[in-house]
Amino acid sequence: MNRPIEPLPTPPTAADLADLSALLRDAVEGGASIGFMLPLADAEVAAFWADVLAEVAANQRVLLVARAAGRLVGSVQLELAQRPNSRHRAELQKLLVLRAHRSRGLGAALLAAAEDHARRHQRSLVVLDTSASGNALGLYARGGYTRVGVIPRYATDPDGPLIDTVIYYKELSAA
Ligand SMILES: CC(C)(COP(=O)(O)OP(=O)(O)OC[C@H]1O[C@@H](n2cnc3c(N)ncnc32)[C@H](O)[C@@H]1OP(=O)(O)O)[C@@H](O)C(=O)NCCC(=O)NCCS
Repeated sequence: MNRPIEPLPTPPTAADLADLSALLRDAVEGGASIGFMLPLADAEVAAFWADVLAEVAANQRVLLVARAAGRLVGSVQLELAQRPNSRHRAELQKLLVLRAHRSRGLGAALLAAAEDHARRHQRSLVVLDTSASGNALGLYARGGYTRVGVIPRYATDPDGPLIDTVIYYKELSAA
């Protein structure tokens, strides 16, 4: 596979911002439990990405994007822990691939790229949580993540019902 995965160039273009919004909306409307409820207002999506970009600018977050034919079709984030006792740790968040581009290895490629960037930020531990009924469980298991356990009724699906969440971690070896 030859798809570039890189930090979102800054300042982001209007086209990239529109693609990011479409990516988030596609995931939520596809049923992913990633923090949002349906119906999803455009202003809520724009506010989310504005917050993400502010944290990227503050070096507290990494935002990687994957492109196909120049358009953003996937993204992943690392929240870089800021507390003095936690600066070896990052939380992997919002691993997203457009529904039309799934099941071709892009999710796995984004996960590997996120780990590479975690190492670049001297982060040796990656933690994450994901829906127990979502479609990312196989990806994390194959990626070498240890399943810590399940928290029942942790969050809701975008259309309302409470769902369980699985917690994972991975200790990164030096590159
Ligand atoms: C989870 C997610 C990022 C995976 O993206 P993806 O690009 O489909 O990921 P991959 O293609 O690497 O792997 C997905 C599946 O396709 C399979 N696959 C990969 N390449 C393939 C290929 N060439 N042919 C057939 N199948 C393939 C993988 O084995 C994997 O199988 P699985 O369902 O048993 O896990 C995507 O489904 C998504 O955006 N979901 C919504 C958001 C979400 O829940 N994110 C995670 C929580 S934050």
